Amino acid sequence: MTQQDWMRWHDAYDEPGSSLKERLDIVRRWVAAALDEGASRAVSLCAGQGRDLLPVLAGHPRRGQVRARLVELDERNVAAARSAAPEGVEVVCGDAAVTGSYAGAVPADLVLACGIFGNITDDDVRRTVATLPQLCAPGAMVIWTRGRHEPDLVPAICEWFEGQGFERVAVEGEGTKYGVGVHRYAGPPVALEPGARMFTFVR
Ligand SMILES: C[S@@+](CC[C@H](N)C(=O)[O-])C[C@H]1O[C@@H](n2cnc3c(N)ncnc32)[C@H](O)[C@@H]1O
Repeated sequence: MTQQDWMRWHDAYDEPGSSLKERLDIVRRWVAAALDEGASRAVSLCAGQGRDLLPVLAGHPRRGQVRARLVELDERNVAAARSAAPEGVEVVCGDAAVTGSYAGAVPADLVLACGIFGNITDDDVRRTVATLPQLCAPGAMVIWTRGRHEPDLVPAICEWFEGQGFERVAVEGEGTKYGVGVHRYAGPPVALEPGARMFTFVR
């Protein structure tokens, strides 16, 4: 872990017009789309305060039918997420990088990997993408983000997803500071192998 204050990091979400708020609005729109189409199990890796999933879920007509597990390491963010979590949402204080953290919560129909790919090595991004099928039910929607800072890794990440059985649904944020990717898992079911590590934060 780094010196980054991951609670304060969320402050930019409250600044009107901030690029992070723009990114949040896009992610929330896709979360709503996944819930509209019937997603009933969701997981969020490095969930932070759950600002993307939780408010959308709390206001959605299908909220009573959705089970979600958010995995987050920072206890302050865990507390904030728990205070915003509707029934059916479990906020786990733990390591989102290890596959075992998802035992009992996957395969999911909605997987959030937001705010991760800019904080880990490119090799770890690739490893994470290759492991995500273990978290996904067939047809699952994965929503992910990556800063557009140079070198822009968004095109490569899309290729990595598409090499692992995912189909591109959308890539948004062109011309902004953030890319938001949406991929659908079109491959076969893959069993969860607890004990694998997907990534380590380096920033
Ligand atoms: C950039 S923030 C993104 C938060 C949230 N996903 C969002 O987009 O609003 C990254 C979060 O990952 C958490 N984190 C870092 N390493 C982690 C790990 N190994 N397991 C769980 N959470 C981790 C940090 O505490 C921080 O809250």
